[in-house]
Amino acid sequence: MIILKHLLPRPSIRYLLRTNSTKPQKKFNPFNIEYDPINRTVTYPPELVINNQSYSTDSWTNVTPHILSRIGQNLHKQKYHPLSHLRNRLCQYFYQQYDPRKLSPKFSIIDNLSPIVTVEQNFDSICIPKDHVSRTKSMNYYINANTLLRAHTSAHQVDLIRSGLNAFLCIGDVYRRDNIDPTHYPVFHQCEGVQLFNKEQLFVDNKNVRGETKDLQIFAANEHRDATKQEGHTLEAVKLVEASLKQTITDLFKTLFPDVSTLNSRWVDATFPFTHPSWEYEVEIDGKWYELLGCGIMENRVLENSGLGKDHIGWAFGLGLERIAMVMYGIPDIRLFWSNDSGFLSQFAFDDSTRSVRYKPISIYPQCINDLSMWLGKAKIDPLDFYDLVRSIGGDLIEQVMLTDEFYHKKKDRHSQTYRIIYRSPDRTLTKNEINMIHKDIEDHCITQFGAEIR
Ligand code: DAH
Repeated sequence: MIILKHLLPRPSIRYLLRTNSTKPQKKFNPFNIEYDPINRTVTYPPELVINNQSYSTDSWTNVTPHILSRIGQNLHKQKYHPLSHLRNRLCQYFYQQYDPRKLSPKFSIIDNLSPIVTVEQNFDSICIPKDHVSRTKSMNYYINANTLLRAHTSAHQVDLIRSGLNAFLCIGDVYRRDNIDPTHYPVFHQCEGVQLFNKEQLFVDNKNVRGETKDLQIFAANEHRDATKQEGHTLEAVKLVEASLKQTITDLFKTLFPDVSTLNSRWVDATFPFTHPSWEYEVEIDGKWYELLGCGIMENRVLENSGLGKDHIGWAFGLGLERIAMVMYGIPDIRLFWSNDSGFLSQFAFDDSTRSVRYKPISIYPQCINDLSMWLGKAKIDPLDFYDLVRSIGGDLIEQVMLTDEFYHKKKDRHSQTYRIIYRSPDRTLTKNEINMIHKDIEDHCITQFGAEIR
């Protein structure tokens, strides 16, 4: 049997571990990823199947089931979701930029690209140096050494330009390893904007007073790189593109924040590998400055990678949808965007995306905290399984679940886990009795499903 095993396709590690186990089947682990919360190690099967596509795993693999479960949720396309309202507003604004008299291009909206990209797309294509810190495993979710969940929508710039677009928005979910706090979440949404110009489009009013065409160029052989421009670019071309970019962005935010009577804003010099010069745009709201996006004149090498490096120049920007929606609607916590709570979602259930609303906190009702401690066998419960169980029983009444304690008892040869469950209804005060019944139900399921002994 052991010899035969080598002839068979390599089974997943999990399969090997569980073959003779009498433990009940795990309820939720579609990716067969094993997580050991004590040692914080993750064991991956040889192949991960994501969206019906199989990817081999290797020493770079660090995606988690929780992160993978976010793929395909597409909050930016969910009807009435605040991120989808913002998406609609961005699209509307850029569609309005089209003016046939000015040769201004039509913006295409691309919002259905898979977030699974290659290292080439995410980094190389946009000139991120090989040793750049943004490539590290600790900052990204890799599927394998060559494939990752995109860390930004800039990953699609080159492909979209190659496909023939010269003005577009690319909107989608992006993934970065980060702390979970009120403003950071490992999955968020970005909108990339790009507009390219050839000589005729850039120098539209290219006539002098006598009606003669001026000889203005995008490129000149003897130009050097300095703080204001890249080597090869003429200053007049860069300044026109910069003006177009800054005008587009300032008008966009005037449109998004019409209620802020005078929107104080500022441009801060920045550095990105894919643009030069580069800026960040900040606005002041209620006395606080918020950085809303990064942008700049596209590196000509990016356009070279796209096949347009000889005769085009362009601007690009990337903005985070959550960041802007939080400011726009007064949403205090980034996790709320993932909420299925009707108390949250119903506040955005309107058709006119330009409607101005302020978010009202949903949880004015008291929390009730209950701990659940249990003895387990040699095997521990994957907290993700526990969370899933709790949610399937407690539904909307569960506000938060945390693994608060875990240890291994040597003499007893058993593991122990304690979870804290925070109950809170979005719309009413829960009775003690009601919570106790749910809590008891969860305990009973732990006994039957995980073979636990409640302590
Ligand atoms: N990709 C950058 C990020 O995620 C944002 C960005 C900055 C995009 C400048 C751009 C740009 O297109 O020109 O942090």
